[in-house]
Amino acid sequence: MPTITIDKDGTTFDCAEGDTILRGALRAGLGMSYSCNVGSCGNCRFELIDGEVEHARTDPPAWNERDLKRNRWLGCQAVPKTDCRIKFRPDAGSISRDLPAQRKATLVSVTQMTRDISEVVLKTSGSDAFRPGQYALLSVPGIAGGRPYSMANLGGEDGIWRFLIKRIPSGALTGHLFDTAKPGDTVQLDGPYGTAWLRDDCDRDIVLLGGGSGLSPMVSIARGAAAAGMLDRAKLHFFYGGRGQADLFDVDAVLGSDLAGKVTFTAGLSEPEAGWTGASGLLPAIARDTLGDGLAEARLYFAGPAAMAQAVQLMAHEAGVAPDRMHFDEFY
Ligand SMILES: Cc1cc2nc3c(=O)[nH]c(=O)nc-3n(C[C@H](O)[C@H](O)[C@H](O)COP(=O)(O)OP(=O)(O)OC[C@H]3O[C@@H](n4cnc5c(N)ncnc54)[C@H](O)[C@@H]3O)c2cc1C
Ligand code: FES
Repeated sequence: MPTITIDKDGTTFDCAEGDTILRGALRAGLGMSYSCNVGSCGNCRFELIDGEVEHARTDPPAWNERDLKRNRWLGCQAVPKTDCRIKFRPDAGSISRDLPAQRKATLVSVTQMTRDISEVVLKTSGSDAFRPGQYALLSVPGIAGGRPYSMANLGGEDGIWRFLIKRIPSGALTGHLFDTAKPGDTVQLDGPYGTAWLRDDCDRDIVLLGGGSGLSPMVSIARGAAAAGMLDRAKLHFFYGGRGQADLFDVDAVLGSDLAGKVTFTAGLSEPEAGWTGASGLLPAIARDTLGDGLAEARLYFAGPAAMAQAVQLMAHEAGVAPDRMHFDEFY
């Protein structure tokens, strides 16, 4: 098992066979900056001082020739072939309360919720703790690489992990889950990961924005806020964005009827068909126009395609939301 030494202070951790340096560090409770876990954001870049690594994903989008020349690698993709000495940006905020671990999960069900989003339910035995807003990497034999999916439920529900997953046209894992997999099949689940988890020690109003599949972690955060009693002290505004009416879903079924009346839910459509009387346009503008000055003091959580996440950041910045009150995942 390769040992990794952090150049700055000599701290060491072991990396299990085939594991990546980022995941080895996080499993050991060490904070290394990251976000997507799939080689797309570049936040986990580190410098290799000594030793040899190879990337699990050939040609990850966030890595280039310049990185190679400077001996910089992506922590989420770099698998050590020898003991290594590395330099990286430490980030205590990335240490998960529940350290990530590999688990064998059983597929319980796949239920269609909108034209292309289905609820996928998995069951594991052993530890099932995670924070609302976190994600897990799901993988199956024959498909290279784990895919990140955010949980929609709360941790500690008898080993049940619920995900709201959007079908990707010609997508490898979503095609497998939606078309081929059967209840009882095994799925590898690695997690929890992610730093956009619910801050439950805060009395500020909560604003959630989920675009398409970004719905999943927002549902978990809404449920977590209710479970923590936060909605007795603060308002929760939940904005969900889709293209047309076929992207809408039964809100009570997805959020749970116990949240009815405690949450202000707004669905906004960017390309509504004739007859739609609800909000229309892009989600950041809908949230800004609905909340006005109230936005600046709120805590924001958002998830969805990278372009949407960037537009929300810009809107929130202009509205005066402090950066340490914005928590988000960009979906790649
Ligand atoms: C933090 C985070 C949370 C997410 N949460 C959700 C969610 O809750 N619901 C949801 O629907 N989607 C979510 N996504 C998006 C989701 O992970 C995938 O992009 C999508 O479902 C991939 O589906 P696919 O395998 O069918 O498509 P494909 O097109 O086959 O998948 C390609 C994607 O798989 C990933 N990948 C990982 N390893 C490899 C590899 N070795 N080779 C190629 N690609 C690789 C890359 O991200 C790539 O973009 C999330 C993404 C991120 C980053
Ligand atoms: S590229 Fe490694 S965490 Fe995003």
